Amino acid sequence: MEKQITNTKVLVTGGAGFIGSHLVDSLLAKGNEVVCLDNFATGRRENLVSALTNPRFNLIEGDIRNRDVCRSALKNVKIVFHEAALGSVPRSIADPAESTSVNVAGFVNVLHAAVEAKVESFVYASSSSVYGDEEKLPKTEERIGTALSPYAVTKYTNELFGANFASVYGIKVTGLRYFNVFGPRQDPRGAYAAVIPRFVTALLRHESPVIFGDGTNSRDFTFVANVVSANMLAALREGSGHRVYNVAAGGRTNLNELFEALKEALVLRGVPCGDVEVKYAPGRAGDIPHSFADVSRAEEELGYRRLYDIKAGIREMVGYYMENYSNNE
Ligand SMILES: NC(=O)c1ccc[n+]([C@@H]2O[C@H](COP(=O)([O-])OP(=O)(O)OC[C@H]3O[C@@H](n4cnc5c(N)ncnc54)[C@H](O)[C@@H]3O)[C@@H](O)[C@H]2O)c1
Repeated sequence: MEKQITNTKVLVTGGAGFIGSHLVDSLLAKGNEVVCLDNFATGRRENLVSALTNPRFNLIEGDIRNRDVCRSALKNVKIVFHEAALGSVPRSIADPAESTSVNVAGFVNVLHAAVEAKVESFVYASSSSVYGDEEKLPKTEERIGTALSPYAVTKYTNELFGANFASVYGIKVTGLRYFNVFGPRQDPRGAYAAVIPRFVTALLRHESPVIFGDGTNSRDFTFVANVVSANMLAALREGSGHRVYNVAAGGRTNLNELFEALKEALVLRGVPCGDVEVKYAPGRAGDIPHSFADVSRAEEELGYRRLYDIKAGIREMVGYYMENYSNNE
């Protein structure tokens, strides 16, 4: 049985975002008191509709780069789940200074406030992007290459600070290298939207989604429930110091296969998109060609088990987009 966090005061930064809001809901369901710190840069109030009615939930609208805000968000907090960041490789290439400011300076701010508040455990979102140009598959934690984007540098820098703070201040810090997370609430809008919500909403509009490259780039697409479970296990891990773990489904799907799988799931639900074809555009700078995780370290040390493979995750997810995006945008 999975270890549980109960009756504990926790902070989720970025709790109004896609992954953070699922963490918030799961922590509230287990009887915890949850503080969410978010400035709504990319997060949405709709993601928190159920949390906002819960008396054990406290929303602080503020920026992780503000020290006083971080200090007040951390009062009496025992566990931190740090999700707040500016995601997206292309966003970081368009504005590296802003991604670095939020993802690095903001990270250090939250981590230092967590040291001051003497939290028991600090878990943060790293990323598979830290593997950069390392070609070996599957990716194992100890072998990383050269970063291919400013975003990847920010996430790798988090890992350096995580290890440094663990040794300088004695705080227990755990980095989770998420691999292409997907699920309900992932935002399909805007230039920096992730591939799965972009494809699903295009199919719902009976439009051709765009694949950058020839569609043979592959990813280890990971349903969000796997990520929530890994966070809980990581927060309760034995030992001290800094440790990083791959969090993934441990499968490999290329973008052409992904498109077909999404189309099939929607057709099965009665969406008339069976004849939609993809469009191809030139590959994008900063994209890793293949990403596929070895999750054995998380399995052995955290007791992590994949709860959903990609197909089961897609089945769980499509209903959300059908309900929320069938008739607009
Ligand atoms: N989604 C993925 O596939 C994936 C993969 C690897 C790593 N990650 C990491 O996981 C974390 C969560 O990602 P997500 O997909 O839920 O993204 P998201 O954009 O939905 O969530 C990020 C949240 O952080 C908030 N935020 C941004 N800047 C902030 C600031 N300065 N102060 C306070 N809040 C701020 C946003 O408003 C948003 O609610 C991020 O750290 C991201 O880099 C995500």
